[in-house]
Amino acid sequence: MQLKEMDAAQLRKLQSELQKQYQEWQQKGLNLNMSRGKPCKEQLDLSMPMLDIKETQAADGTDARNYGVLDGLPEAKAFMADFMAVPEANVIVFGNSSLNIMYDTVMRAYVFGVLPGSTPWKDQGQIKFLCPVPGYDRHFGVTEAFGFELIEVPMTENGPDMDVVEALVADDAQIKGIWCVPKYSNPQGYTYSDETVRRLAAMPTAAADFRVFWDNAYCVHHLDMAHPAQLLDFLAECAAAGQPERPYIFGSTSKITFPGAGLAAFAGGPETVKYVKKLMASQTIGHDKLNQLRHIKFFGNLDGLLAHMAKHAAILQPKFQMVADTLQKELGGLGCADWTTPQGGYFMSFNTWPGLAKKVVAMCKEAGVELTGAGATYPYGVDKEDKNIRIAPSMPPLADLQQAAELFCLCVKLASVEKLLAETR
Ligand SMILES: Cc1ncc(COP(=O)(O)O)c(C=O)c1O
Repeated sequence: MQLKEMDAAQLRKLQSELQKQYQEWQQKGLNLNMSRGKPCKEQLDLSMPMLDIKETQAADGTDARNYGVLDGLPEAKAFMADFMAVPEANVIVFGNSSLNIMYDTVMRAYVFGVLPGSTPWKDQGQIKFLCPVPGYDRHFGVTEAFGFELIEVPMTENGPDMDVVEALVADDAQIKGIWCVPKYSNPQGYTYSDETVRRLAAMPTAAADFRVFWDNAYCVHHLDMAHPAQLLDFLAECAAAGQPERPYIFGSTSKITFPGAGLAAFAGGPETVKYVKKLMASQTIGHDKLNQLRHIKFFGNLDGLLAHMAKHAAILQPKFQMVADTLQKELGGLGCADWTTPQGGYFMSFNTWPGLAKKVVAMCKEAGVELTGAGATYPYGVDKEDKNIRIAPSMPPLADLQQAAELFCLCVKLASVEKLLAETR
């Protein structure tokens, strides 16, 4: 029965049952964390053999222990190109974090402009950036740090609402970019449709220096290895549409080997790559080539990496399934929430009724389960409707996750019942 179909007496009875259950949960003294999308210990253990690799010599004879090689060892570039599904010539291998590359990419555009001769963003007045919502808090944080005005664009199952995006960028030259997580998006787990990819590649923009920040963080993070989501080649689509320099593409092995100790890379159009290399030459002599060799020797090639991802999926899939099953069992049919059931990535996106997300997160916290702060999935941390919660099932062991998911559902039910009772008063 839907909660909204219950009369006041039924709601009050349900409220007191749920309150009693909540008090029992509070007495359990739980201390669980579902707040960030970190790999769990078993996932990290998968990559431990990589640390035994003591390779120091690259295929071309380069001594990886020494200075040099700005844009990555040739084998590292070839490997990251395969991984990101882009040509080798368009790739630059960086250090240990793609978020760091994204920050530097914004910084370069801000200080130097996107290409030689382009006016730096800092000299163009108030810069604006499109933020599909709900989205990744750290993306929004980067552009917020530069003082850009962040404009929300609704997400759909096919990616950002392209009617809204096209209308905004066509008219406003201050809009310089859009954040995209095109495959298994954070937090919904959506993959952009072919139509969305093509429209992003081809849409006319008032700003000649408009860029699409294509963070393909979850390109190989399938939960069902037999049915991976398919994403069009954005670099090729942009080139075909006559916009070869539009894409800024990012990827990393953070959630494949070790977060903070993986390999991260950038890909872009030919002029972009040339310019980035020129600018970065005064920033570094080269990144960690020993780590590049460790990764190459550990995986061998893309097939080796995909075999490794199957091991991650075997750990993660049961966790996602358990959360999805619990949500369905406890909340299905009540009409008080909706949520996504991703086929990959690290998150699920959950919506309460408007006005309840903060309350649910606070109730969970009081009973010992930490969730991502409500509002985190929106620019400036403000979800105007206060309804979205990002669920991150990867980190806790399965048994803990089961408890956290049950408590979460209880809190959603109780908060929803109390909202209805307050409205009937
Ligand atoms: C969409 C997305 N991009 C980037 C990152 C961080 O990547 P890195 O560890 O390569 O900096 C995350 C981490 O959660 C993420 O969800």
